[in-house]
Amino acid sequence: MAGLAQIGAKHVAKGVGRFTEMVMTEGKGSYIKTECGRNILDLTCGIGVTNLGHCHPGVTKAAQEQVGTLVHGQVNLGYNKPYLQLIEQLLPVMPHKSLDSFFLWNSGAEAVEAAVKLARHATGKQNIIVVQGSYHGRTFGTMALTKSKTIYGAGYAPLMPGVFTTPYPYWHQMGLPHTTSNDELVENALYRLELLLKQETAPRDTAAILIEPVLGEGGYIPAPKGYLEGLRKICDDHGLLLIIDEVQTGFGRTGKNFAIEHYPTVQPDVMIVAKGIANGFPLSGICSRKELMDKQPAGSQGGTYGGNAVACAAGVAVQRAFKEEKILENVEERSKELFGMLRGLQGDATVGDTIAEVRGLGLMVGIEFKSPTDPYTPAKGKVPAKMASRVQNKCLEKDLLTLTTSIYETIRFIPPLNISKEDMAKACSIIKESIEEVVREG
Ligand SMILES: Cc1ncc(COP(=O)(O)O)c(C=O)c1O
Repeated sequence: MAGLAQIGAKHVAKGVGRFTEMVMTEGKGSYIKTECGRNILDLTCGIGVTNLGHCHPGVTKAAQEQVGTLVHGQVNLGYNKPYLQLIEQLLPVMPHKSLDSFFLWNSGAEAVEAAVKLARHATGKQNIIVVQGSYHGRTFGTMALTKSKTIYGAGYAPLMPGVFTTPYPYWHQMGLPHTTSNDELVENALYRLELLLKQETAPRDTAAILIEPVLGEGGYIPAPKGYLEGLRKICDDHGLLLIIDEVQTGFGRTGKNFAIEHYPTVQPDVMIVAKGIANGFPLSGICSRKELMDKQPAGSQGGTYGGNAVACAAGVAVQRAFKEEKILENVEERSKELFGMLRGLQGDATVGDTIAEVRGLGLMVGIEFKSPTDPYTPAKGKVPAKMASRVQNKCLEKDLLTLTTSIYETIRFIPPLNISKEDMAKACSIIKESIEEVVREG
């Protein structure tokens, strides 16, 4: 290990955790450069953040101009101009007209907590239901709401009380084979939720159901349509709010502005946004109906940096880029290419038997490998152990950065939404080669 990386190894908190010790020095479009001179194709986007690529020229320019104009226009003193301009841009792209009141914050976890505060205050009730496999952050409130891996909360108790967990319609979580039909999974999961409301948290004590439309850290699993429709109905029947966490799925990631648009009949009461909103500048927020938001006393929401002027100016530029650069069209095309390659591998005589599932929406794509010790992913032949991390390492050796996800053998691909056809082809051939090599090595 050389140079600055040594300082990192010695002086950066171990609790942060890192996949590599590389020092990232520059980012341009779909690539990041490292201190050692590597130029790496980035299929992580900093975990779904730099959706328009690194240092998108329009976003960079807008932020640079704002840095020289007004950096900090504190929101409890007055409005800062880019904050209002961003809301003006967001209003027409909200999935439902009812989502007309905004509170901007810094990180995804803070916004999740803001949504919980809103739900508790608006309903006068305390409990929150989340799904098994959920990820909502690592603060004290959100650690309690996160159910994808114990690492995020283990050893930090007591966590926020009043959180209840319901199974997610995902075969692996349900302890069912990967061939189980969606209808059966949905029916099972909704039944378990009804039981939860009868046996553990009564509707009169329950404020909201909080869910990601595509489980992120839980394995890149889109919610079946019938499940989200069922949740909406249960919320309506029992007087609960439906909070949709679009932190990772928002801003074009799934091929629509927001993933909830894939479920046209499901109207969220509260929507949480972050990550792609400002392409790398720290910005998050919640939006909801004005009548719910306006119940909160002035001063009970807010914080020093929330809705920072530079981050908001970047957010305005992101919206401009979406309009001018046909981003969603590119997502559709590149998505077909990535899914096409992965589905092709599923049918391949040599590697197909090691793949349990290929899934996702748009450019939020996951591949789950089988595991030789897992009874729910039976294989005809021999399946190598630890496929996901081994394939991830092989990809990195070939200068392609990817991420694993969930407690299972899953890799997720989160390319820039404006990745070129050539770079997608390059990524696809590296992924294919890496999987083939791991299977060959056994
Ligand atoms: C769905 C979801 N919610 C919340 C968060 C937390 O966001 P942050 O890391 O900005 O606090 C994340 C982060 O990955 C996320 O994916």
